[in-house]
Amino acid sequence: MNRPASPAEHSAPWTRLWKAGVLHSCASGIAGNYDREILGFWLGQIATLSDDDVLVDVGTGNGAIPLLALDNARQRGISLRIHGVDLADIDPVADIADGASRFDGIRFHPGTSMTALPFGDGSVSLLCSQFAFEYAPRAESAGEILRIIGTKGSAAMIVHSTDSVIATVAEAQHHGCRWLLSESDLLPAAGRLLDAMAGATSREARTALARDPVAESARHAFNDAASKLMSQIEANPSAELLQQTAQRISRLLAHPFATHDEADAAISSLRTWIEDEQQRLLLMQAAALDQQSLDDAVRLLGASGLAVRTGRLLYGGDTCMGWTIVVGNG
Ligand SMILES: C[S@@+](CC[C@H](N)C(=O)[O-])C[C@H]1O[C@@H](n2cnc3c(N)ncnc32)[C@H](O)[C@@H]1O
Repeated sequence: MNRPASPAEHSAPWTRLWKAGVLHSCASGIAGNYDREILGFWLGQIATLSDDDVLVDVGTGNGAIPLLALDNARQRGISLRIHGVDLADIDPVADIADGASRFDGIRFHPGTSMTALPFGDGSVSLLCSQFAFEYAPRAESAGEILRIIGTKGSAAMIVHSTDSVIATVAEAQHHGCRWLLSESDLLPAAGRLLDAMAGATSREARTALARDPVAESARHAFNDAASKLMSQIEANPSAELLQQTAQRISRLLAHPFATHDEADAAISSLRTWIEDEQQRLLLMQAAALDQQSLDDAVRLLGASGLAVRTGRLLYGGDTCMGWTIVVGNG
């Protein structure tokens, strides 16, 4: 019988994403930190804080929202007590370039669920969540959030909606993952070619490969799979993952590995990268809120009597990125 995944296993695809050093979960579409209307939303919330207030960002990933808060506090000459919480094994100070100086003063809590937050009742002025609250058990998380913000604090969230551009692109990406993992021969063919090339690190060895029938047959099979990949990319241009896979494979093929083990490890790490992406897409699709589930979340977040306001986050003027939820006077 399958046992349920432990929290660490459940979070592993997130942990690996953050360890790869991306700053936030929209890094493929938004360079640097969150910008435009997303930044505007957060700056509007952070502006309500004054010296020594406590801000907690749940599902913080590599700390994009804490970083916005810290930069804003530095500009305003105030000091905020900023915390970032995540169930995944995060370490933004180590995993983001210049992390020690950029996150100086922010306290991160890896392996910590928003269903059991390490903060006292009513001790938090602003609770933030960017694409995170919706991933956690909703009633427990809402209860914890209301407990730590008490009657005077507020909570602000941007959550995935089923009709956002992210949900639409996720469909295309998901199709790309399925094709790569279940329908195409690309990864096995790339693995066989890398294996045939392993050890051919000198010019003479590479020349000899051209006369090796095993290497030639691996090359033909790979070329065939690669041309099918190109057709998929043309047919499904929104699935960036297909283009990224093509780039990753061509980097692997550019320099033969010294050993078969290294070649095998490279292909299995590429497979894990695609599987992680697929897993995160599935989690996102399960987490995205339609109008009914937004209404349910609003009921949960209104349970302590604080006002709850919702809206749509339109990015670049008209691109729907999700719902906004503000609890309290933020
Ligand atoms: C889509 S990412 C968002 C990360 C970050 N807020 C951002 O915008 O870049 C969702 C994050 O929520 C975290 N998460 C999921 N369930 C959680 C829980 N129960 N408690 C805390 N974090 C959780 C995941 O580990 C992941 O890092």
